[in-house]
Amino acid sequence: MTIHTTEPLNTRKRRIRIGVIFFAVALIALGHWRTPVAPHWLHGMHILLRKSFLIPILLAAVWYNLRGALLAALAISFVFLPHVLIQWRGQVQENANQFGEFVTIWGSAVLAGWLVGKEKSALGKLSQTHEGALVALVRALDAREHNTQLHSLRVRAFAEHIAKGMGIDGDARMELARGALLHDIGKIGVPDSILLKKGPLTSGEWRIMRKHPEIGSRILESVPYTDEAALVVCAHHEKYDGTGYPRGLKGDEIPVGARIFAIVDAFDALTSDRPYQSAVTIAEAVETIRNDAGSHFDPNVVAVFVSVPEEKWRQIADSIETNDFDPTCEARLPGPIRRREVARLEESN
Ligand SMILES: [Fe+2]
Repeated sequence: MTIHTTEPLNTRKRRIRIGVIFFAVALIALGHWRTPVAPHWLHGMHILLRKSFLIPILLAAVWYNLRGALLAALAISFVFLPHVLIQWRGQVQENANQFGEFVTIWGSAVLAGWLVGKEKSALGKLSQTHEGALVALVRALDAREHNTQLHSLRVRAFAEHIAKGMGIDGDARMELARGALLHDIGKIGVPDSILLKKGPLTSGEWRIMRKHPEIGSRILESVPYTDEAALVVCAHHEKYDGTGYPRGLKGDEIPVGARIFAIVDAFDALTSDRPYQSAVTIAEAVETIRNDAGSHFDPNVVAVFVSVPEEKWRQIADSIETNDFDPTCEARLPGPIRRREVARLEESN
């Protein structure tokens, strides 16, 4: 499997979009210059083309907000102004009419750019709220298990990186990342006596514990836009050779997100200190996963995983730890009360 990165894809997309805008401006300008300004049946086309300058402006606004729209308006002004000055020279009334077109061009650019920017910002806030609610769910589970949420955040970042390497982009990658983040959310439905038990579980307790993928998937039924994430949650304990649970899915029957997740979950477990095992090195963890390709893990995904340099995994893990923000109650209190509480805490220490 070939490794792709999204940077070239994004750059290509950007180039194509800029090309479309400039091509549209050039094409409309050319048509506008070539069609007659004098009374002629083609003059209708001339007017139509002039109005068509709004198309690249709107495209630029949608793709690049206010800045893009203003740049498109500037490019259009550069080609439209000489036309007005040359072809309508000395015709005061028509000049006024043509300059009115500049008002339309620049007015549309400002308004469209501003509105699209506002809309995108509102959508961004909505998406952050949605994402925040999902992280809160994970924190609820972690608080109960007395864990930190770092494992969930790390596997989300690792899974995203592999997905990127496999050319999985956009919504599909976002859903996969959500599934990785929420993989164990169903443990909320497992009783404390089993979830927090220190010793080994009995077979009956294992039966209950193994229900957590399905419980998790049911929890997500009520959360919009998590259908694909729910698939990852539901299948995160399946194994490539069909020996996993809850359904014993095999090979490509397992959703690709779950096949990616299985690898990063094992990788993070192996490279983290746990009560029952000490962390192994990244190289040792990679070797273990390579050995399980075809049995536990999808060999195609393993091929992508092993091609990632060790340093990259370290960078991703470090970025999670430094970006983790855990506001205390004190941090949320109004200024004077916060200062009083902080002083009180310092005194009591
Ligand atoms: Fe699990």
